[in-house]
Amino acid sequence: MPSHSAESDPLGDFCIGDTNGPISGNSFPCKLASKAIPQDFFYEKLNLEANTNNILGSNVTKANVMVFPGLNTLGISMNRIDIASWGVNPPHYHPRAAESGMVIKGQVMVGLITTGNNVQYSKVLGVGEIYVVPKGVVHFQKNVGQEKALIYAAFNSHLARTVLAGVNLFCSRPYVDYEVMTRAFQVDKTVIDKIKNSFGYPQCNSFIQFVG
Ligand code: GLV
Ligand code: MN
Repeated sequence: MPSHSAESDPLGDFCIGDTNGPISGNSFPCKLASKAIPQDFFYEKLNLEANTNNILGSNVTKANVMVFPGLNTLGISMNRIDIASWGVNPPHYHPRAAESGMVIKGQVMVGLITTGNNVQYSKVLGVGEIYVVPKGVVHFQKNVGQEKALIYAAFNSHLARTVLAGVNLFCSRPYVDYEVMTRAFQVDKTVIDKIKNSFGYPQCNSFIQFVG
């Protein structure tokens, strides 16, 4: 199985991940096909409304290969995104997948910012409308309605991974060198400290739940 290359077409019907085996590259070893059970092909947890009572007012529930081993090598996965009326799913990108999502409840502003020339495209989507975000492109969602919003998103990777722009820089362990940060953001050290303090540990741990 080509575990170190981009996800390609599978060589057999399935390769259910043996999650006790070592993850190599982006995949698990295949469990013996004769050991497949119905539960390997089904996953129920995306039907659970998530608690959005956190600093972002949102929650992302993932159905990726880490929790749903039947996805192993198939190059697909899904997320459920719950967003409180005041909430946001903050700017992030997926290094290994394009994303397409559908608003199931509420009204959501979805925005994406291109690489290279930094053009922002955004639109408020209602129920049944869909969006697409190319692989590696920064995007966000904001609930602009009065009610909780719900989105289901699909990815063309069994493990899309998520890089949250702010968390990546301000929650790294160890912290990024001050000179790098002050030059990068063109602010002085006190501003970097202020962001780290309002946004840094222990709050980082609440952000880190969104990554993965
Ligand atoms: C939404 O953008 C998500 O990645 O779940
Ligand atoms: Mn996303």
